Amino acid sequence: MKFQNSLPYAKQIDKADPLKSFRSQFHFPKINGNTPIYLAGNSLGLQPKSTKKFVEEELTDWAKWGVEGHFHGNRPWLYYHKFSKKILAQLVGAKPIEVVAMNQLTVNLHLMMTSFYQPTPTRFKILTEAGAFSSDQYAFESQLKSHGINPDIALIELKPREGEFTLRTEDILQAIQENSDQLALVIFGAVQFYTGQFFDIAAIAKAGHRAGAMVGFDLAHAIGNVPLQLHKDEVDFAVWCSYKYLNSGPGGVAGAFVHERHATNFNLKRLAGWWGHQEKERFEMKKGFVPMPGADGWQLSNFPVLLGAALQASLQVFEKAGIKNLRKKSVQLTGYLEFLLNEIDPTQKYFQVITPTAPNARGCQLSILMKRDGKKIFNAITKSGVIADWREPDVIRVAPVPLYNSFEEVFQFGEIFKKAVSKK
Ligand SMILES: Cc1ncc(COP(=O)(O)O)c(C=O)c1O
Repeated sequence: MKFQNSLPYAKQIDKADPLKSFRSQFHFPKINGNTPIYLAGNSLGLQPKSTKKFVEEELTDWAKWGVEGHFHGNRPWLYYHKFSKKILAQLVGAKPIEVVAMNQLTVNLHLMMTSFYQPTPTRFKILTEAGAFSSDQYAFESQLKSHGINPDIALIELKPREGEFTLRTEDILQAIQENSDQLALVIFGAVQFYTGQFFDIAAIAKAGHRAGAMVGFDLAHAIGNVPLQLHKDEVDFAVWCSYKYLNSGPGGVAGAFVHERHATNFNLKRLAGWWGHQEKERFEMKKGFVPMPGADGWQLSNFPVLLGAALQASLQVFEKAGIKNLRKKSVQLTGYLEFLLNEIDPTQKYFQVITPTAPNARGCQLSILMKRDGKKIFNAITKSGVIADWREPDVIRVAPVPLYNSFEEVFQFGEIFKKAVSKK
C-alpha cells in the first residue's frame, strides 16, 4: 500500500474501510468535553456499548432468580464458562476443549506451570525473553524457588544482539538447542509487551519440543491482536488476560489454553478446585478429585459471571468483525503509523521505532524509543489529547486498534507527535 501524509488521504481510507461501523459500537473517553486519540488499547481496551446490556442481564437474572439463576435465564450461570469457548478458540486457533475462561493471567500462569514445569535434577531450566513482563518474571522466580531451584542458575533470559532491540528467531532457536540437555520449559510473551515483537510461535514450539522441553506462551498482547494457531503449532499451554485487545474491562476474566494431547493426561500434577472436577459429579461433594478433560480440568472456582458477561459482549463484537478482517486492517493501520513516524524523523535523531518492521513480526503496537526528552514529549502529546502509554525507561507505546481506531486518528497523532518533537 502506498501511503500519503495528508488528512484527505486518511479520510479517504476511512471511508473505504469495511470495518468502519465498529467504531461507533464503543464508548470513547471524554477529556474536557473532547474525544482524545485513544491509542492505549494494548493497555485497556475500550468499552463496547453492548457491555452494559450484557452485565445488566445478569443483574436482572440475579434479582429475579436468586440462586436459581444458576439454572435459568438466557445464560445459566452454571455453564457460563462454556459460552465464551467457541470464539476464544477461534481467536487462539484452538479446539473448544482446549480453552477456558478463568481467573487472572498470573494465576493461570502459575496453574499451568504447576502442571507443565516439572523439573528433574538434570532438566530444570526455563528459557524466556529478557525483560519479560514483571508478573511473569515473578511467577518464574517463585516457581523455581518453590522447587528449591536457584533462579540465577536456572532462568535463561535471552537478550537481543548488541545494538539490536528485538530477538532474532535464529538466535532463539540456537539458544534452545544449546540448552537442550537441561531445558524443562520454554516460555515467551507471544507479543513482547515492551518492544511489540511477535515471536515465531511455530518455530519456537518446534525447537522447544525437539529439545525435550514443554512450550508455553503469554498471550496478553497477542489475543485479539494477531492471528494465532496454537493447536496446529502444538504449543503445550498458553495464558491470556482479556482487558487489553479483548475489551472485557478492567480486571476482566482471563483464560488458558491446554493442547488437546494433554486433555486426558490425568497424571499431570495440578492444583485442583471443584469447578475442574467432573461436571456431572460436581455437586456430589465426593472425596477424590477427578478432572474434566481438556482445559476445563484446570478450573478452580465457580465462574465470575459479571466479568463473564462483559467478556461475552466483547467476544460478540469480535465474532461479527472477524479476526482475519481485523488483522488485514491492523496491518494497514500500523503500517500507516510507521510511515508517518518515519516521515517525522527519517534520520532517527530524536526517536526510533524498535518494533520489527515486518508485519508478521508485530501486532498493532509500535514502541517508540525516545532518544531525548522522552518523558517531556510524552507529557506534551498527552496534553494535546493523545492517550498512549509510557514505559520506563524510555519508550512510548502506541497501539492503533483496528476495531475502533481510524486512519484519521493515526494521521492526527502524527501531527501532534511531530509538533511535540519539533519543540524539543
Ligand atoms: C505480558 C503481561 N503478562 C502478565 C500481565 C499481568 O496480568 P494479570 O494482572 O492479569 O495477572 C500483564 C498485564 O498487563 C501483561 O501485560
